[in-house]
Amino acid sequence: MDSLRIRGGIPLNGELCPGGSKNATLPILAATLLSSGSVDIRNVPRVRDVTLMLELLDTLGAEIEVNGSDGVSVNTSRVHNLVAPYELVRRMRASFLVLGPLLARFGQVEVSLPGGCAIGSRPVDQHLKALRKLGASIDLDQGYVTARSKDRLQGADIEFDVVTVGGTQNVMMAASLAQGTTRLRNVAMEPEVVELAECLRSMGAHISGDGTECITIVGQEQLHGGGCKVRADRIEVGTFLAAAAATHGSIRIVDCDPFVLNTVLETFQRFGTTIKTDESTIELSAQHGELRATDIVTGVYPGIPTDLQAQFLALNCVSRGNSRVVETVFENRFMHLQELVRLGANASLESPTIAVIQGVSKLRGAKVMATDLRASSSLVIGALVADGMSQINRIYHLDRGYERIEEKLQLLGADVERVRAN
Ligand code: EPZ
Repeated sequence: MDSLRIRGGIPLNGELCPGGSKNATLPILAATLLSSGSVDIRNVPRVRDVTLMLELLDTLGAEIEVNGSDGVSVNTSRVHNLVAPYELVRRMRASFLVLGPLLARFGQVEVSLPGGCAIGSRPVDQHLKALRKLGASIDLDQGYVTARSKDRLQGADIEFDVVTVGGTQNVMMAASLAQGTTRLRNVAMEPEVVELAECLRSMGAHISGDGTECITIVGQEQLHGGGCKVRADRIEVGTFLAAAAATHGSIRIVDCDPFVLNTVLETFQRFGTTIKTDESTIELSAQHGELRATDIVTGVYPGIPTDLQAQFLALNCVSRGNSRVVETVFENRFMHLQELVRLGANASLESPTIAVIQGVSKLRGAKVMATDLRASSSLVIGALVADGMSQINRIYHLDRGYERIEEKLQLLGADVERVRAN
């Protein structure tokens, strides 16, 4: 297992062009199963989760063509295998997103239950409840979901009990081929839901209201080929902004959309950094003055993303004053806290979902261990600030969602190297 070696204390300065959004790419790849035409996707990030999703599509019988450095074309006209196996789903829970499309297109599918993960139990009850409302029969047996609909799925009015990104996406895809109209309420409004809807519309789906509390889908007999360009990964952008802020550097991020990060940019200003934006760039400077400890409460979009909670917690560890970080989306998303304490942070849990932090003036390099994707990025931030050498182990977690992170950090002046396990 590879690790990262980082000598901290160097301010990050320079320009970053972010990669495509992992969390938009994954549902879009699942959506290719809805049509027998080709779907061309550009700006696809080369990260482990995307590789795993492509592997799953290949297992199902899809034909995948790589176009240039960041494009893929997927044709699922010859899909024949309707089973998403445990061996793949357990490694990448977003595989569960093939359930809706395969059910809607073929009327039958078996998908392994994803199981829990480091950050929480992450049930899929809302996905299943909504698909039943569309007329599917759902059985659970030996860890697999078997979904069937002997006739075409039927449009329905559905209200989610919990705001769920994946649930919204799975059901939006299934409803695209249902008979009649489906209205989804209490849906996720994340940009990745809007990006999926845009790609579905390019394939002939009739979807409106994405990005609001209510999405309306008028089902079609079939969808055709389509295509889209994946937008910048807003979580990668937020992660690098936090790294520049923590190291008292200055960064300019190009080809991104500041609008989808409104709440996040306001939060960086509350920390005392200077933010400037235009329609496709964000500049952050933290070269002057101290960082001010800032209370963080995560929430569904447009609130502070749970996927940036660990990064903001790391920033609070080296900001002046006391702060509280409240995680409202997942029940166990503070695995990074104890690892940051190993770097000298003064932080503890008041409850499973509330962390209290007292900022310190110095962190000291140490060996730490990554436990999940976004926790790993908070350890990178801590190591970039810490005096001396740190080593972050199990960075396969990082590689799931950050493409060539060490190269991007080196371009910003960081002293970081990847140590390949032999
Ligand atoms: C997506 O996961 C993202 N993953 C996650 O990013 C992100 O943290 C999460 O949305 C929240 O924004 C992808 O897009 C691939 P949810 P998802 O369903 O869809 C509960 C990363 O780091 N829930 O919105 O699985 C669930 O337990 C990853 O890139 C139910 O109770 O998240 C959680 O508490 C980590 N029943 C809450 O909803 C259900 O049926 C939000 O989960 C579904 C979810």
